[in-house]
Amino acid sequence: MGGPGDRLVLFCVPHAGGTAAAFNAWQALLGGAVEVRAMEHAGRGTRAAEPGYRSIGEAAKDFAAFVTAGAGGADWAVLGHSMGGLIAYEGVRLLQERGFRPARRLVVSACPPPQHGFGPVWGAGTSDAQVVDFLLRLGSIPPEIAASSDAMGYYVGLVREDARLTDAHRHRPPATPLNCPVTVLWGGADPVTEAFDPADWREAAGRPVDIRTLPDAGHLYITEQAARAADLVRADLLPAPTSGPSARAATGRPAVDTGVELYIDLLKRTLTNTVYEDPPLPSDWAPDTAYDPISRHAGLDWPSTAHTMVGLRRLDNVQYCVEQILADGVPGDFIETGVWRGGTSIFLRGLLRAHGVTDRRVWAADSFRGMPVVGPEGHPGDAELETHLLNDVMGVPLEQVRRNFEAYGLLDDQVRFLQGWFKDTLPTAPVRSLSLMRLDGDLYESTMDALTNLYPKLSVGGFVIVDDYLIKVCAEAVHDYRRANGIDDEIKDIDGYGAFWRRTR
Ligand SMILES: C[S@@+](CC[C@H](N)C(=O)[O-])C[C@H]1O[C@@H](n2cnc3c(N)ncnc32)[C@H](O)[C@@H]1O
Repeated sequence: MGGPGDRLVLFCVPHAGGTAAAFNAWQALLGGAVEVRAMEHAGRGTRAAEPGYRSIGEAAKDFAAFVTAGAGGADWAVLGHSMGGLIAYEGVRLLQERGFRPARRLVVSACPPPQHGFGPVWGAGTSDAQVVDFLLRLGSIPPEIAASSDAMGYYVGLVREDARLTDAHRHRPPATPLNCPVTVLWGGADPVTEAFDPADWREAAGRPVDIRTLPDAGHLYITEQAARAADLVRADLLPAPTSGPSARAATGRPAVDTGVELYIDLLKRTLTNTVYEDPPLPSDWAPDTAYDPISRHAGLDWPSTAHTMVGLRRLDNVQYCVEQILADGVPGDFIETGVWRGGTSIFLRGLLRAHGVTDRRVWAADSFRGMPVVGPEGHPGDAELETHLLNDVMGVPLEQVRRNFEAYGLLDDQVRFLQGWFKDTLPTAPVRSLSLMRLDGDLYESTMDALTNLYPKLSVGGFVIVDDYLIKVCAEAVHDYRRANGIDDEIKDIDGYGAFWRRTR
């Protein structure tokens, strides 16, 4: 099985009446280690012009073709929701029969065990009005459709077509067990599956299954509770790199126990405050003031109280890089340039504590008064951004950052602060060697100052993480520096916003 650094393609199959758009939020929620590819059913969404399927078997063949065309050499997994779960299950069986390499995992979501069928919820004898009632109960009718009787008629027609497929489907008991692990994802308040026992999936899989329940979730939790559902799926798809015996042996240190994994997980949730869900500060690009789990996972909002703004997925990336460094024994300290309230640097220190590392330091470099004012001699792109206008939020005094470290019990002499503008502090910083440099200063100059002064100190095997790779001036600095220094190590995406690479020479 691949580790969390290996690319994994997750093929997603939508529910009856649904389109690929149902999984729109999932890429941001799962992060860069997983590539989400949602299938469009024939006759739906972007494939509306094609004739629809005549059977679940035909849909499963279409799904199998989608997987073989899209998996390339990557590891792959499947998530099918409701009717999509049945199509995914049949498709995985088909690929197994054809000898295609096994999936890392099949996740069947909100889908009754196939030997029982979908039940009579929208069978042939049900009237359109009953179907509408049922769909309203599920909350599956998009408001723009509910508002128009023509659109409503069309939508109900689509759902009934899909219901005919599930009604007509006859389960074939498997001759051999499925050749991949199976997760059964289940909503505790889902009217479609309430009459069934998720454990019955064991019979259809021919092997034990892992049941994951969202206690109060209705049928459409893949959109309504996407962040919680994605957390469960992710935990099954990407087991923590420290959990396997090989990772333990490779670190040469005592076995990492479950308590350590739990501490790291809780630290990430606390630092991003996905626990108490503080509202974001309104900004030009995100005027909303309601907490949005998707933005917080993807690090797209400015939290009002959380100690980091980088989001859960970029903290996952920090953990991945650190654990690779420790496993491979890459020498050097860690540095973050641009720490704001300190959250990511606190996480770096927490990772050292969790892994019992006492011979590496975390360097936290910041002006501790916000972004620099860029004069006419500065980079024109930086000047245009005028980020210093945000300094009432961006400028966090050093004393506050120290207090934040202290709040986690993580302020000690393994933490060093470099206070001042990067151009002044970094050239003479008493940092001997680095294994991780995390750049989070947003601007061209801030990124370039960090690369120029720190990259020569980065060990081979060490990581450069660029938090703001999506910001044009930041990416420009990265490309200019790499070009000037002949660096061609592959830049990998983290979550559609940040990126990183590993130094190979
Ligand atoms: C986006 S915030 C960093 C977010 C932080 N890494 C986190 O985990 O939430 C950017 C920080 O970079 C600092 N900064 C940007 N350019 C700088 C420079 N040239 N010198 C010193 N500090 C700088 C700002 O003071 C601010 O605290």
